[in-house]
Amino acid sequence: MSQFLGLHFQTPQSWADRVLADPGPLLLDHLFAEKKAAAMALHTLKVHGKRFPVLKQLMNDLANEEFEHADRVEKLLKNYPKPEAEKGGNRYAQGLRKLWQVQGRDNFLDMLLVCGLIEARSAERFRLLADTAHGTELGHFYEDLYASEVNHYLLFTHLGVDFFGEELTMKRLNEMRAVEAELIQSMPPGPRIH
Ligand SMILES: [Fe+2]
Ligand SMILES: [Fe+2]
Repeated sequence: MSQFLGLHFQTPQSWADRVLADPGPLLLDHLFAEKKAAAMALHTLKVHGKRFPVLKQLMNDLANEEFEHADRVEKLLKNYPKPEAEKGGNRYAQGLRKLWQVQGRDNFLDMLLVCGLIEARSAERFRLLADTAHGTELGHFYEDLYASEVNHYLLFTHLGVDFFGEELTMKRLNEMRAVEAELIQSMPPGPRIH
């Protein structure tokens, strides 16, 4: 499946087995990720909506969908003892964000591709979680979200191709996939989607 998403690192089964033994902390991290994704869609619209009017509908729809995901996560969280929030920012997201904060060039393509890669990693992990928790409420939940996040990955990468052309988009996406794989592997093991 990672092959389909183009990711250069595949999350091991042991990760899913470990985090599903106590789903609360993973769900709490996931809740932040969904809220962040919604905020990022609205930010993208605010900063680039004038230049690319097609973003208005797409980013509003995306934000609504991510808020819906956040609501679903919040409901599921009630099934588990209240987990403690992890302190500090997420090094993975910070590391990826640096990729588009290069001065002196149009960084919108990089920003789209970072968003796409974060969606791809969510999808890859939801797939693994769905298979591991197959037949349970959590399994159905991750199955649904897997399909959504694959679509979001495709949305961002297709926008890259539409706005900046296929050659440049694919070249940059491949460079970024290598960085993403290094970052995700450098994270200490824990109940996080990223
Ligand atoms: Fe989502
Ligand atoms: Fe998403």
